[in-house]
Amino acid sequence: MNKITYSISVCFSVSLQKTVEGFGGSSVVFPCRYDKQLQDLTAHWRYNDIKNVYDIQAGRGSAREQHQDYTGRTQVFSHEFVKGNFSLKVENLRLTDAGTYCCYIIDVNYQECTALSVKGMMK
Ligand SMILES: *[C@@H]1O[C@H](CO)[C@@H](O)[C@H](O)[C@H]1NC(C)=O
Repeated sequence: MNKITYSISVCFSVSLQKTVEGFGGSSVVFPCRYDKQLQDLTAHWRYNDIKNVYDIQAGRGSAREQHQDYTGRTQVFSHEFVKGNFSLKVENLRLTDAGTYCCYIIDVNYQECTALSVKGMMK
């Protein structure tokens, strides 16, 4: 009995994925939280594993190789990096932004994903 309970809970925690809802024209913050201090980390924010949404390189935010769909619409909070908070804000949401956003912290092989759904424009 104990064994069954254990395997179910492990399975559940692996498949668990957060979902956020946004409205067209509004903004959303995708969480990426690591509970240990990381110096000069490298992390990648990706959309559906394909598009480059944002990079953190050597501990600094960079939009240099960002996909043009996200030009001028993204922000990280560098003052929060020391707290292990690498969350990403995407502004002026479009219906086509719906999908899965993952942060990959390369140094520690950590990943955190959030599914986004976008509803019609805000009035
Ligand atoms: C991370 O930082 C953002 C921006 O300041 C904030 O909205 C968010 O609540 C923070 N997340 C955590 C887990 O502290």
